[in-house]
Amino acid sequence: MLWKDKKVLVGVTGSIASYKACELIRHFQKKGAEVRVTATPSALEFVGKLTFKALTGEEVLSDWRDGKTGLEHIFWARWPDVFVIAPASANTIAKLRIGLTDNFLTSLALAYEKPIVIAPAMNTKMYKNPATKENISVLKERGHLFVEPAEGELACGEEGEGKLANIEDIETVALYTVLPKPLKGKKVLVTAGGTREHFDPIRYISNASSGQMGYALAKMAYALGGDVILISAPTCLKTPYGVKRIDVVSAIDMYEAVLKYLPEVDVIIMNAAVADFRPKTFSKEKLKKAKESPVVELETNPDILKTIGEKKREDQILIGFAAESSNLIENAKDKLKRKKLDVIVGNLLDVFSKETHKGIILFKDGKMVEIPPMDKESSALFILESIFL
Ligand code: CTP
Repeated sequence: MLWKDKKVLVGVTGSIASYKACELIRHFQKKGAEVRVTATPSALEFVGKLTFKALTGEEVLSDWRDGKTGLEHIFWARWPDVFVIAPASANTIAKLRIGLTDNFLTSLALAYEKPIVIAPAMNTKMYKNPATKENISVLKERGHLFVEPAEGELACGEEGEGKLANIEDIETVALYTVLPKPLKGKKVLVTAGGTREHFDPIRYISNASSGQMGYALAKMAYALGGDVILISAPTCLKTPYGVKRIDVVSAIDMYEAVLKYLPEVDVIIMNAAVADFRPKTFSKEKLKKAKESPVVELETNPDILKTIGEKKREDQILIGFAAESSNLIENAKDKLKRKKLDVIVGNLLDVFSKETHKGIILFKDGKMVEIPPMDKESSALFILESIFL
């Protein structure tokens, strides 16, 4: 699991969004993290101590005097791999800026030596107030990371920026703080999803790719420091935090988008399940039922990976994928050579749409690494760390 053996300290402050901290705690736990909570006295007016205690199985400290020795704010500051304050109120953000230590959370924050992940949630006018803006910008200068609030309808009835960011986005920024940065300064292009080859406006030929692996690779490339562009065929997935997404439909759209960005990127990760064939003709009108069964004639799509292999510069790293139904290693080796790749990740075909992933990573110098069975996010991280660390 992605967060296995990692310790996450969640700081909860007083906000109508305090209850969302419970979801965040569960999210980290489901991904394997050990979680502790400190909640301010105001937060405990929104969500009871017992809720956090029951979720974490740990004491929940709130007043700076809490704990056995009165020094727990110092001990707890040494404990986590990452300290996430979510939701962070305007009041706590102001206290963090001036170094106030009036409760357990703020005292701990002052003793905490690493960057804190701060996810604000408040009324939009409070968020946009120059005082809050200035506090945030000073904290950013000190190296703390903010997960910007989302726009939408707020509990007070107003519309605007101030809603607590998406839980997955908060987790991604937290992940960013704990991982090394081998992709810092590198532009990474990732393709994902299965292309759709339409023969009328409604109907198309496609494949069973969910896009999950490509999206996981984009998320991990961001968390490893990359500047990531995700070229995506249609999927039901949310764009990973910090990633620029370009939507395409067909193999030809993807081919054009990839070639457009090719000159400016350092790494190309071609994970999309590109349809090898497309219908020869396209009807602008929806095809009507007819007495005779229709025949859809196909023609071959361009091989995007092979084209990049031929066009790319020496300093660009090209990573391809091979989904095979048999002879995994031989087929992957052959594709690596034929398509002039630097690395190929091979897996057996049953991985489409499934949560777990296993396979092999083959390098052009002959090195081979086995990917143990694990969930797709862990596998994406394993692949990128095996290539770039
Ligand atoms: N790929 C591509 N363009 C295509 C088809 C595939 O860029 N038209 C890329 C995929 O993104 C993947 C790799 O090629 O990185 C391998 O896909 P796969 O379907 O296994 O390869 P094919 O070349 O179609 O395999 P085969 O020769 O076995 O048909």
